[in-house]
Amino acid sequence: MSEPMKYETIKIEKENGITWLILNRPEKRNAMSPQLHAECNNALYNLATDPETQVLILTGAGDAYCAGQDLKLFFRGTEGKPRERFEAAENSHTWRWQRLSRFPKPTIAMVNGFCFGGGFVHMIACDLAVAADEATFGLSEVNWGIIPGGSVSWNVADVLNFRNAMYYAMTGDPFSGKIAAQIGLVNYSVPGASLRDETIKLANKLKEKNPMTLRYTKEAIRSVRGMNEMQATDYLNAKTDALRLRDPEKGRDTALAQFVDEKLFRPGLGNYVRDKK
Ligand code: ACO
Repeated sequence: MSEPMKYETIKIEKENGITWLILNRPEKRNAMSPQLHAECNNALYNLATDPETQVLILTGAGDAYCAGQDLKLFFRGTEGKPRERFEAAENSHTWRWQRLSRFPKPTIAMVNGFCFGGGFVHMIACDLAVAADEATFGLSEVNWGIIPGGSVSWNVADVLNFRNAMYYAMTGDPFSGKIAAQIGLVNYSVPGASLRDETIKLANKLKEKNPMTLRYTKEAIRSVRGMNEMQATDYLNAKTDALRLRDPEKGRDTALAQFVDEKLFRPGLGNYVRDKK
């Protein structure tokens, strides 16, 4: 697991601190085969500690983001093969939810086209999501006689309001990137022609922030959602202390000095000066 594999169904590209994890089966609309799950699982394990990776962008090659599970290889191909099925399901859940939602750097889903069924899991697992206006989303499970399984229903119920979750799961209606933005499934949508540039712009904004603060922030927002007020307050106090202790940049102290003593920046309007040298 730990050594990087030779990838055939995904591509990894790195540029200026941004790592692109690209689902690469465009001829199958980037449907997820057992092999793709194993490769993504391996890639995320290795990228988690890759010093070149400051922000991770997940997207699909060609016209599609991800057409969901590969109906032929993931479902039919593992029928009557308990070990293969178990392995595919384990890898599928591990990378799409566990590894991605707990990835230590910021993650952005760039939804460039079709996004169906099981593709929702990794799209929602990313911290942020940007879609092309023209992208097509759909909870198509109902159209072929299954429920949104794996963790899809859980993810969708978490991120959408009740009426929208019910509507799109029960009708299977496809909807555009613009609608995805309106219902809060993605942060925003932009014309397809500017999708890449706009996503890079967002990644660059994140790159300006203190990485340890960013990591603790995303962990805090995710964790408190399942807590009551008392648990959350206690956890956040401990997390605040841990960040002060562990932050190699000592961001809090530097920023306080820059605002209070040096009058160098305004926290309400932008980031402190991270590298004054
Ligand atoms: N599983 C397996 N193969 C797929 C999948 C899939 N999910 N999606 C597309 N493909 C394959 C097609 O079988 C086809 O293969 P072929 O060239 O060998 O015949 C190829 O990708 C291209 O697909 P087309 O349907 O010809 O492409 P088109 O652009 O017209 O339509 C679309 C794309 C809308 C994505 C369509 O393929 C589709 O509806 N796919 C299924 C989407 C879906 O419901 N996914 C499952 C969600 S449920 C879940 O993930 C658990």
